[in-house]
Amino acid sequence: MARIGIKNLVKEFGSFTAVKGINLEINDGEFLIMVGPSGCGKTTTLNMISGLVMPSSGEISIGENDVTHTEPGERGLGMVFQDLALFPHMSVFENIAFGLRVKNTSEQEVKDRVQQAAEAMHIEQLLSKRPGQCSGGEAQRVALARTIVTNPSVYLMDEPLSSLDAKLRIDMRTELKGLHERLSGTFVYVTHDQAEAMTMADRIVVMNGGEIEQLGGPLDIYRKPATRFVAGFFGMPTMNFLDGEIAAVDGAPMFVTDGIKAPLEGDLPANLSGRKATLGVRSEHVLATEAENGGKVSLIEPLGDATLVYFDYGGPTRLVSKVDPDRLFAPGDDLTFAFDANNCHLFDADNGARLN
Ligand SMILES: Nc1ncnc2c1ncn2[C@@H]1O[C@H](COP(=O)(O)OP(=O)(O)OP(=O)(O)O)[C@@H](O)[C@H]1O
Ligand SMILES: [Mg+2]
Repeated sequence: MARIGIKNLVKEFGSFTAVKGINLEINDGEFLIMVGPSGCGKTTTLNMISGLVMPSSGEISIGENDVTHTEPGERGLGMVFQDLALFPHMSVFENIAFGLRVKNTSEQEVKDRVQQAAEAMHIEQLLSKRPGQCSGGEAQRVALARTIVTNPSVYLMDEPLSSLDAKLRIDMRTELKGLHERLSGTFVYVTHDQAEAMTMADRIVVMNGGEIEQLGGPLDIYRKPATRFVAGFFGMPTMNFLDGEIAAVDGAPMFVTDGIKAPLEGDLPANLSGRKATLGVRSEHVLATEAENGGKVSLIEPLGDATLVYFDYGGPTRLVSKVDPDRLFAPGDDLTFAFDANNCHLFDADNGARLN
């Protein structure tokens, strides 16, 4: 069993607290991704799970064992780091074999297991090369093969794709997801790339300033962000945000600002009327087919399968709507729009907490 339990985990560096008492249960066999901006404490948290960094307080368990004070080598983990850390003077074969050789594995078993790991990562043809003779994507796969060959029950990965170009990153996303399905291990994966988190994770942990902002499945987080921070972190283009207030118009709740009106549907807490709030709406929920509000187009971005239309509405920000690519807009055009009432997110103007 490779369940990981994290209780009230804190890490202080001098007077600075990098991780502020997080609680997390990672399920056996789960693909869990920790995501958040630079400096939010992702690597520090991962390194506390691995044992490379000692917590200031709190507890970590793997399976039934409390490992808070256990040496890294005794935790049964496999690690893949951002800088790969391959040995440049050894062949790819010897790099992959390293973890087996230090355990005095027999020569035949080393050969068989390296071969299996190389096949799993499609790098059999590289075994006699040196890491320096591999491309970035190949070296990445060597680093993964070196980890899977030791057959750990938990894989810890810290931004393992960050050195790759955009196309290779997307290919490796698919490979990693397939690898997770084939191996039965628990994956804990750190990235600052929201698309990586959305596409691969069973569950996502969104971190900000050393704390967990939200924990949930990718679509839950996309559809119901718990805070304004999470709402802005996920999705391309970034969600539209408008500052305004909630008013009751003819008895129905409405978000109003700068001449814009947006009816609100779904469950709303009582007594919101008159309250200052931030409205968040994704570009696909800004409907440039409705006549409720007016704006003027300022910029067009064709994506191929859709077009992004940026427009001014008379307020301090610019809004973006995702439209069908067959609809032709040009800068300067007038447009009318409405917000999809079932996909409006309301956040507290002060602390950013979700209101609806
Ligand atoms: N050894 C250290 N001594 C002092 N401060 C540290 C140390 N390690 C990390 N920190 C600080 O702790 C905070 C969290 O660092 P961490 O490396 O966990 O961030 P991260 O979320 O992994 O960021 P990135 O996406 O840039 O890798 C940062 O502000 C960092 O400066
Ligand atoms: Mg980091």
